[in-house]
Amino acid sequence: MPTPTFTRIISNATVLDGSGQAAYQADVGIALGKIHTIAAPHSLQGSQKIDASGLVLAPGFIDVHTHDDREALDHPSMLPKLTQGVTTVITGNCGISLAPWKAQFAPPAPLSLIGQEKDFRFASVADYFEALAQGQPAINVGALIGHSTLRVNAMQDLTRGANAQEIAQMQQLLEEGMRVGALGFSSGLFYQPSKAADNTEIIALAKISAAAGGVYTSHIRDEYDGVIAALAEACDAGQAAQLPVILSHHKCAGPANWGRTCETLAYIQQRRLTQTIGVDAYPYTAGSTVLDPNYVDGVIRIMLSFSEPHPEMVGRDLADIAQEWGVNQKQAAIRLQPAGAVYFQMHEDDVRRVLSDSNTMIGSDGLPHDTHPHPRLWGAFPRVLGHYSRDEKLFSLSEAVRRMTTLSADHFGLKQRGRIAQNCWADLVLFDPATIADQATFSNPKQAAMGIHWVLVNGEIALANGVPTSARHGRVLRRQSEALELN
Ligand code: ZN
Ligand code: CU
Repeated sequence: MPTPTFTRIISNATVLDGSGQAAYQADVGIALGKIHTIAAPHSLQGSQKIDASGLVLAPGFIDVHTHDDREALDHPSMLPKLTQGVTTVITGNCGISLAPWKAQFAPPAPLSLIGQEKDFRFASVADYFEALAQGQPAINVGALIGHSTLRVNAMQDLTRGANAQEIAQMQQLLEEGMRVGALGFSSGLFYQPSKAADNTEIIALAKISAAAGGVYTSHIRDEYDGVIAALAEACDAGQAAQLPVILSHHKCAGPANWGRTCETLAYIQQRRLTQTIGVDAYPYTAGSTVLDPNYVDGVIRIMLSFSEPHPEMVGRDLADIAQEWGVNQKQAAIRLQPAGAVYFQMHEDDVRRVLSDSNTMIGSDGLPHDTHPHPRLWGAFPRVLGHYSRDEKLFSLSEAVRRMTTLSADHFGLKQRGRIAQNCWADLVLFDPATIADQATFSNPKQAAMGIHWVLVNGEIALANGVPTSARHGRVLRRQSEALELN
């Protein structure tokens, strides 16, 4: 066999291939954007060589829980993710997706987290995918279609359940999106625009995703006292519609529920006996979403992440702002609208318990448009690898990588992604296991991680020696077949 011409060779790497197996030393040869050859260290020859001595080579991380729908268009360099070693994001989580919706009124919260009226400009998922392909983001993008987005298309009155005609219209929009390659359907029954929906409405839509081979991801109705019933509702929908369920950013919120992840994880495990259930989580004790005066309980710490009328207040605690204004926290929250916040609502033991579960995928849930975002946007993946794996020894590095790569690709049906194996796409990250660390903090959240040296996306170098290149070789990852992918 003639020696192939490699476009690039990664030499003498410590390979964690995503399977969870122990590391091995190897050279990896890349050709036509894919992993062509995995060979003994120092055995491959070619001019374009990256010396990976002392570095770990892993599959590029897959951020399964994002709200990057518009970020991928407006800031295609995708720096918060690229600098973490993330090579694929999945958008449209929590029931909110940018497409399909051509807005004729201001998007209600939480749709407002991802854009304003002018930003919701895609009547179909096909139009959105075309804009993405033309915009050429630096990393790959797969998309879910959100229930709240479907509802604002089909319903005038969001405070009730959808009627048969409205369900039919939503099904049609969803079906169109699935046909062009969306990965599945997402819901956020916790949120105002979707709260009034019952499981019949969800199941009717989840069935459309199921028919196309997609998934159903759920920001459950209640992460507080009613968490078990809410988990049951999501699992029931998956079972009835016969598709995999993914439980988003799993947590037990509020001091009254701290410690209950023992109960929730056992419940999920029991449901796994009869259905496929995924879980994603981010490595922090605080969550973040819109600031809703109804979520202000005067108990937990709440920090402002954005405010349209009071941008000067971001990064400060709601309690301080309220005190300065001489009002209570609820009144301050009303005055700050529209606004977003970080809620210190979890217990460290619960975060560790969820992260330690071998079925938990890592998803950042970062909010890229917040002026003072939760640090998970820039730090989630390095924090799992550095803080929780290396320093706290919660799990091995190999296991941490598995839960950001193969586990995620398998749950979302991403073929030839998330693993280092012959003929897989060369989405790769080279990092230093001794120094990898998140730098983003709650007070200083927009900080790139340390220890990420090289990132390759579809075989091209997107980050070189820790510095982003201008290369933009991400693709739209359409469900199932690579033949369907754009560009
Ligand atoms: Zn959510
Ligand atoms: Cu989310």
